[in-house]
Amino acid sequence: MNAPTLSAHEQAAIEAFDKRQLRSVLGSFVTGVTVVTTRDAQGKMHGLTANSFSSVSLDPPLVLWSQATSAGSHAAFNESERFTINILAEDQHGLANHFATRTPDKFAGIDYDEGIAGLPVLRECSAWLECKVVSRFPGGDHVIFVGSVERIRQSERRPLVFGGGQYLVADPHDLGRAPVGTQGAMKSQPHAMRLASRHMVRLAQTLDKTLALVAWGNHGPTVVAWQAARTPVAADLPLGLVLPVTSSASGLALAAFLPPEAIERFVAAELRENARNESADLPANAGSLSALLESIRITYKATRRPGPFHGDRVLANAVSVPILSPDGVAVLALTAIGPAEQFDAATEASCANALKAAAEDISAALKDAANENSPVAR
Ligand SMILES: Cc1cc2nc3c(=O)[nH]c(=O)nc-3n(C[C@H](O)[C@H](O)[C@H](O)COP(=O)(O)O)c2cc1C
Repeated sequence: MNAPTLSAHEQAAIEAFDKRQLRSVLGSFVTGVTVVTTRDAQGKMHGLTANSFSSVSLDPPLVLWSQATSAGSHAAFNESERFTINILAEDQHGLANHFATRTPDKFAGIDYDEGIAGLPVLRECSAWLECKVVSRFPGGDHVIFVGSVERIRQSERRPLVFGGGQYLVADPHDLGRAPVGTQGAMKSQPHAMRLASRHMVRLAQTLDKTLALVAWGNHGPTVVAWQAARTPVAADLPLGLVLPVTSSASGLALAAFLPPEAIERFVAAELRENARNESADLPANAGSLSALLESIRITYKATRRPGPFHGDRVLANAVSVPILSPDGVAVLALTAIGPAEQFDAATEASCANALKAAAEDISAALKDAANENSPVAR
């Protein structure tokens, strides 16, 4: 089969990337972080931060890493017969920065033990591999070292992660199963919280809205987490803020999916207040509230009319969606809030749809977790 020929235009497009773009693309491949250490013939210790570490073979046990030929410690590693891979733990990003900086004595003030042939083994890491060099390969501006693994050790500490040019922490994709026996609506809350926090980080960035996670507390709808937008809706985003049921998007989103007996004691006083204020767009009696909640049960979206945010002079708009337990009861409400002059919650459908998709995702995960924990599934 003939290789497809590329037009000059296609060829140019393939080749047109610079170092910065290449670095950025490579940053999409998320790695752990290691400090590779050795000792030279004079007994001086060397170490550098490296994320080029990779496993090669299980039998025989081989690993590799690559070093820039421009590194200050390159001659030492090139001449040494051994290296030790210290896989850094989640909280060791300071150590990673330390060993990524050229300094005359990198080991001053650093806690380490001596391993095979006296090589430094850094303390408090996630895991360690003590290796003997079996091959060195030139690789452009790097040299690739392949080592035979002679001794390994592992701790309980979670590993540090690096990707997109920054240090990260690793969480399981679903942030862990719901604890066994937590099928009840409110018992799903901790699991829903974990799942929602991840969505909130992403949504606050993509929507540029301040996000709130609201639980039904013993004083009614209560903010349990905030995620600020690039321009937060207010300077203070207090946790534990209690919201009204009938005039906040979050309160309405929760109330629509809670048993009537759960909301009754909160709404009676609010309905009287709404009636006294004669606000046309707020429910003033049980009938109008029930119609409003019914409409929310159809769309899964609740909005609020522009109102002051947390006593602030800023008028805010909000849209809220419920996160539901496997039996359809509101566990939390996920709410986007923005200044009214920039955010028309009713017309900005894309925002409400993004929230709804996230809430559905979380509700589905709660259902999966409950099925996994149910005696039938086991
Ligand atoms: C997260 C991270 C990963 C790195 N990975 C490597 C690597 O795999 N190979 C390398 O040669 N340098 C890597 N570096 C850069 C070196 O750590 C840095 O150049 C260090 O100063 C070299 O030390 P030296 O000059 O004392 O030898 C990395 C830096 C960071 C922050």
